[in-house]
Amino acid sequence: MLKISVLASGRGSNFQSIIDAVKSGRLNAVISLLITDNPEAFAIQRAGDNGISHLVLQPKQFGSKDGYYQSIADELKKRGVDLVVLAGFMRIIGKPLIDAFPNRIMNIHPALLPSFPGLHGQKQARDYGVKISGCTVHFVDAGMDTGPVIIQAAVPVRDDDTEETLSERILKFEHKIYPEAIRLFAEGRLEVAGRRVRIKDSPPDDQGLTSPSLG
Ligand code: GAR
Repeated sequence: MLKISVLASGRGSNFQSIIDAVKSGRLNAVISLLITDNPEAFAIQRAGDNGISHLVLQPKQFGSKDGYYQSIADELKKRGVDLVVLAGFMRIIGKPLIDAFPNRIMNIHPALLPSFPGLHGQKQARDYGVKISGCTVHFVDAGMDTGPVIIQAAVPVRDDDTEETLSERILKFEHKIYPEAIRLFAEGRLEVAGRRVRIKDSPPDDQGLTSPSLG
């Protein structure tokens, strides 16, 4: 069975959505470890509540950025992890980890990439004035939010949205598409060719786009 490790820095609601998908049987996988860079992260409590072990690893414990990511890669390899899932892990992943898990690290971003990468994707979209934003699950490469796109959900931006209301609307779809992307991976249905990710055996109207309630 697919062995997942989640990396999270904060409240971990996406982590929870993956836990819930596993528990309900929608996702055939085991979450073997949470790694966090924040000893205060609420994600730690979620791990404890669900019998998932955790490690707190902080860059300051290591001599260099590469040393930090090498030690994360070593921990994951030691445990036979197949897929690394970034769920609100607020750091740019270093090369040793990317090299150890090529096309085996996923991230979720709260905007329709390549628009609004980096921090506060929801605020960037609102301030720019776009009418549609959303969220993106993608494989991680060496850039910031630049790896091949797996699934996106389009979410409307309302005139009276604040950063908070838009973030909340987008988050509901994050919680749907992240477990879905992992399920496709677990089923061996993601085929990466350069920048493009093909979802094998899916009908034309179900190829990685969710567009809810745009009307
Ligand atoms: C989520 O909205 C996620 O998309 C975002 O952080 C939040 C984490 O929430 N990630 C990024 O902005 C990455 N650039 P969570 O801890 O409740 O899952």
